[in-house]
Amino acid sequence: MQTAVKQVRDLAIEQPSSVRVFERFGIDYCCGGRKPLEQVCAEQQISLPQILEKLAEAEQAAPEPVEPWTTRSCADLVEHIVHQCHAPTRTELDRLIALSHKVRNRHGANHPELVQVEDLVQQIADEMGPHMDKEERVLFPYIVSLEQAHQTGAPKPYAFFGSVAYPIAAMMADHDIVGGALASIREHTRHFELPDGACPTYHALYATLADFERLTHRHVHLENNVLFPRAIAFAGTE
Ligand SMILES: [Fe+2]
Ligand SMILES: [Fe+2]
Repeated sequence: MQTAVKQVRDLAIEQPSSVRVFERFGIDYCCGGRKPLEQVCAEQQISLPQILEKLAEAEQAAPEPVEPWTTRSCADLVEHIVHQCHAPTRTELDRLIALSHKVRNRHGANHPELVQVEDLVQQIADEMGPHMDKEERVLFPYIVSLEQAHQTGAPKPYAFFGSVAYPIAAMMADHDIVGGALASIREHTRHFELPDGACPTYHALYATLADFERLTHRHVHLENNVLFPRAIAFAGTE
């Protein structure tokens, strides 16, 4: 299938180097990624030929062929998510809480959007902490055991929550809440545009917010678009 008519989320899965291009152009490959690339370009007034060129360049420039996650085990993917997504999410949220508080205290009077930013950062932290704990303690170990049962032909493991589709739906609803809060931060900060003469802490806050948004989009993409559909396939028609 031609790249232009493929859904953005599928391109992100099949060609991991595309994620950087989508990030650069502000294309949502994550929760809103179920649209063909050509439609997204038309909606966002982005040149389709330019994106196609950048995608080809990104693939050529990739340091080594990156194996798509779809060809690797869920156990490996879970390991990757826990160490490369959850661990930095916890660290960066701690930093963001401190930075947003400090910048709001100093500059909130002149920049009222900083009050909203601090509140939204806290909302994301309140959501993501228990969310990642539930994934690590309950859902991920269950998905790994489902995969093992599938590989060995053993019966599906017992789950107190019934079908794996239920906790997955709950996790995806949490992702939507966090995605919405991140979009609000982007709106309030006018795409992380710093005011003239912003102090270094202000710079650090906006840079950290932009990095955190990228991290969260990758994190949610790996769960919503790769891990969860595979878990549901292993579970079959429960
Ligand atoms: Fe997660
Ligand atoms: Fe999650």
